[in-house]
Amino acid sequence: MGPRLDNYAEAALRPLYKAHYRFQFLSAAFRAGLFTLLAAEPGLSRTEIAKRLGLDEQPTRVLLLGCTVAGLVSKDGNGYFNTAVSEALAGDPTDLPGAFVPFEQHLTYRAMGWFYESLKANTNIGLRRELPGEASTLYGRLAGHPQLETTFHHMMGSVSRSVATDLARKLDLSECRHLLDVGGGTAVNATALARRWPHLEITILDLPTVVEAARERISAAGLGDRVRAIGLDVFHDELPRTGDCLIFAHFLEIWSIERNRLLLGKAARALDPGSRIFILTPGQDDDETGPELAAYLSAYFQTIASGEGMVYTAGEYEQWLAEVGFEPAGRFWVGGLSDVLITGVKRENGS
Ligand SMILES: C[S@@+](CC[C@H](N)C(=O)[O-])C[C@H]1O[C@@H](n2cnc3c(N)ncnc32)[C@H](O)[C@@H]1O
Repeated sequence: MGPRLDNYAEAALRPLYKAHYRFQFLSAAFRAGLFTLLAAEPGLSRTEIAKRLGLDEQPTRVLLLGCTVAGLVSKDGNGYFNTAVSEALAGDPTDLPGAFVPFEQHLTYRAMGWFYESLKANTNIGLRRELPGEASTLYGRLAGHPQLETTFHHMMGSVSRSVATDLARKLDLSECRHLLDVGGGTAVNATALARRWPHLEITILDLPTVVEAARERISAAGLGDRVRAIGLDVFHDELPRTGDCLIFAHFLEIWSIERNRLLLGKAARALDPGSRIFILTPGQDDDETGPELAAYLSAYFQTIASGEGMVYTAGEYEQWLAEVGFEPAGRFWVGGLSDVLITGVKRENGS
């Protein structure tokens, strides 16, 4: 019984303690261009692949062995082929799912090695050890690393694009005249919402280094007359009182419970009674058992992004909304990952 149990446990644990190898097979093959090559020319031999990728033959053999056991390529005779999984990585590298690979490789991989220390210190030791800079959050430090900032926004933009279409379809903004998009990033949501609702004005509020990229997208979309971006720090500045509705998209999960209460309080002060507030966020199940993505993101916020946030339950957001003067007005799922949209309406007496 003993040895069988040991074997069972070893086999079950191995994908966990060897997970970093699997990621490096994936990342190295992606960076080398293996999947794009095999999409264009399926069935190439190891020698041909080595020549095309500019690698020596033996390292190519190491890479192909790793990719084969990881299910990223299949071998038939002497020829190598993409699998259904890796074929998805042969497209635009700034789009999903490929955009996750450079993000995980360059932004999170080494830093997540400080997870335990980050739990113990209850702050983002991973960021502090791996990304030079003074700012306490990833977003602030990225300003000093333009290439990494681009990698981050490719990933974030591609995640947002995957939910923005569904968001624009499901979010009813017919009653809204001017939407404040707090932490609106590079305007992916704003451009989708502005196209869907031609009467709507939108003001994006984000860090000064990010609003430049937002303005480029707005102008490329020809929406400069209705969508604008203002650079500010939401923790240092009050929110403008120009909107009659407000959205926090992929933003509040970054911060602690205390700071979320503070931000929601700021939102309440910026809006008149009857105004709507929307929170778009990855959701944790109300019974706190998942989903998987909520666990990954929570560890990322703790170790890298902010050292204080996590994926909260929709019920927690509804409680905080009620505390600062909003009446919770429903929730629904958006997109194909685990995003939930929570709505509140500012109460007449604001309390
Ligand atoms: C996870 S991204 C979400 C972007 C966008 N809302 C979306 O759904 O794609 C978080 C955004 O918050 C911005 N941000 C972080 N800290 C901020 C602060 N203190 N003030 C304003 N924006 C901030 C970041 O620059 C980034 O664009």
